[in-house]
Amino acid sequence: MNLGVNIDHVATLRQARLTPYPDPVEAAKICLGAGADSITAHLREDRRHIQDHDMEKLAAMDIHLNMEMAAENEMVMICEGLKPFACCLVPEKREELTTEGGLDVASHITRLKSVVRKLTDADVRVSMFIDPVKAQIEACKTIGAPVVELHTGHYANLSGEAQAKELDMIVNGAKRAADLGLIVHAGHGLTVENTPAIVAIPEVEELNVGHAIIADAVFKGLKQAVIDFKAVMRR
Ligand code: PXP
Repeated sequence: MNLGVNIDHVATLRQARLTPYPDPVEAAKICLGAGADSITAHLREDRRHIQDHDMEKLAAMDIHLNMEMAAENEMVMICEGLKPFACCLVPEKREELTTEGGLDVASHITRLKSVVRKLTDADVRVSMFIDPVKAQIEACKTIGAPVVELHTGHYANLSGEAQAKELDMIVNGAKRAADLGLIVHAGHGLTVENTPAIVAIPEVEELNVGHAIIADAVFKGLKQAVIDFKAVMRR
């Protein structure tokens, strides 16, 4: 199972003081050197963390870059120009602290189908960040997206029986997606504590993790934080 590290928080720290440091591009190199398989960066409409120049530098590196973005015209044009290895389409609200829920693909089939086609034509592998719900998974197949990233944020925030129910949704969602021939990723809210149950889902090929790894990095350094997360995934 691959690990994608989301480096947005490195840019958040930099933007807090508008200094040139810490540089998310340097962070990407450290993560990859420590065993990360890909790097995710989210270019938000409000540019609150990752900036255009970060994305340009990351896209120019010979790495598996996953550009996270809203399915809006501006972002689609940027992505078509940068041609990252992959792109993950997410819903985006200005006032949110982080991506709050999955994309409602089922209600926006026509528009999202056209976005997926444009990005696929630009040689970008498109992933849809969705809740682990049958209708959404099937809608991703309908619009021709090759990858789904199942939202684990609700699972991460729950406990006890409610968490077990949400985990069941993810397990069944992963199966349904794989049966449809979709590549299955998962992410959001994952930590060393709650990740083992997700790692145990055989269809999940990649995890995308940001907050927990960058938070751990404050105490033990980025390299060690990535090494430790990968170790949990291997166990
Ligand atoms: N996957 C997607 C689609 C996300 O939007 C995010 C958050 O930017 C993540 C994964 C990583 O979530 P977290 O920062 O909670 O690990």
